[in-house]
Amino acid sequence: MGKIIGEINFPTNSRTLVSFEHKDDAGVYELTPDLALVQTVDFITPVVDDPYIYGQIAAANSLSDIFAMGATVCTALNIVAYDNCNVSREMLREILKGGADKVREAGGVLIGGHTIEDIEMKYGLSVTGIVHPDKILRNNNIQPGDKLILTKPLGLGVISTAIKADMVSDDIIEKAAFHMSYLNKTASELAVAIGVNAMTDVTGFGLLGHLSEMIDSGYGIDIYYDQIPIIEGSLDLSQTGLFPSGSYKNREYFQPGVKINNNSLDDDRIMLLYDAQTSGGLLISVPEEKAIPLLDKLKTAGLEWCSIIGNVAADSNSILNIY
Ligand code: CO
Ligand code: CO
Repeated sequence: MGKIIGEINFPTNSRTLVSFEHKDDAGVYELTPDLALVQTVDFITPVVDDPYIYGQIAAANSLSDIFAMGATVCTALNIVAYDNCNVSREMLREILKGGADKVREAGGVLIGGHTIEDIEMKYGLSVTGIVHPDKILRNNNIQPGDKLILTKPLGLGVISTAIKADMVSDDIIEKAAFHMSYLNKTASELAVAIGVNAMTDVTGFGLLGHLSEMIDSGYGIDIYYDQIPIIEGSLDLSQTGLFPSGSYKNREYFQPGVKINNNSLDDDRIMLLYDAQTSGGLLISVPEEKAIPLLDKLKTAGLEWCSIIGNVAADSNSILNIY
């Protein structure tokens, strides 16, 4: 996809602050010197059987890219592709209700949408937010010495695939659904308030893919595997190899920039780092002296699973070192 996008000359102008070339979470357009629009769209196929929870997860996933830019959610539009042979009106209503509840929780309003018939159910949102043009949190503005905080555990991709294969216990499904439907709003607001250097959310490219985007500024990143929060049960599932196909593509694509320095990390453990996440957490690059205060604030706000997983290395070799 990146290659095709590079072949097209998309229209931009002097107000275009963030667009395709930045590989960032959302596009940003300057309206006035102190106000910019932040826009994103995302939709996904069902990840859990419960339609209300699926709606919540799809919406939390779509809203996340606004939070990843350090922006405030304003409006959302529903995007629905709906198979009326297999999805009842009751189920569709639950999906939309789940989405609406998450937009409300995000502080936004839902003001429209579009529905088509499709053989495969898809739901998501187009979301518009606002941010001060000087306060945009890009994904690649990391600075040497920064600490990296991850605000949700990994394992969401392999668990989602295993749910489809009926191989997951109810308590693991519940745990994964809890995290996937959890808004990145509070984490984003706390990061903005304390002042951080860079931020993105962990989604389709997996932890190592999104970290690779962060180091395109030239610095390296050191990651400590033992510090990474991982949903219990996902390592067992990793051994079954039931990953989304995107996770294997991530490994193929991002592996050349990754150096494993820890012999005790087997392939099953490493694979979790490439796992494509649905509605994953924020990756926050925060100045060292603010790292512990931010972590404390996150935990006090109820995100007790947050962790400092590594730091930005001063050398400029753009390598991801895993210890
Ligand atoms: Co994103
Ligand atoms: Co996105």
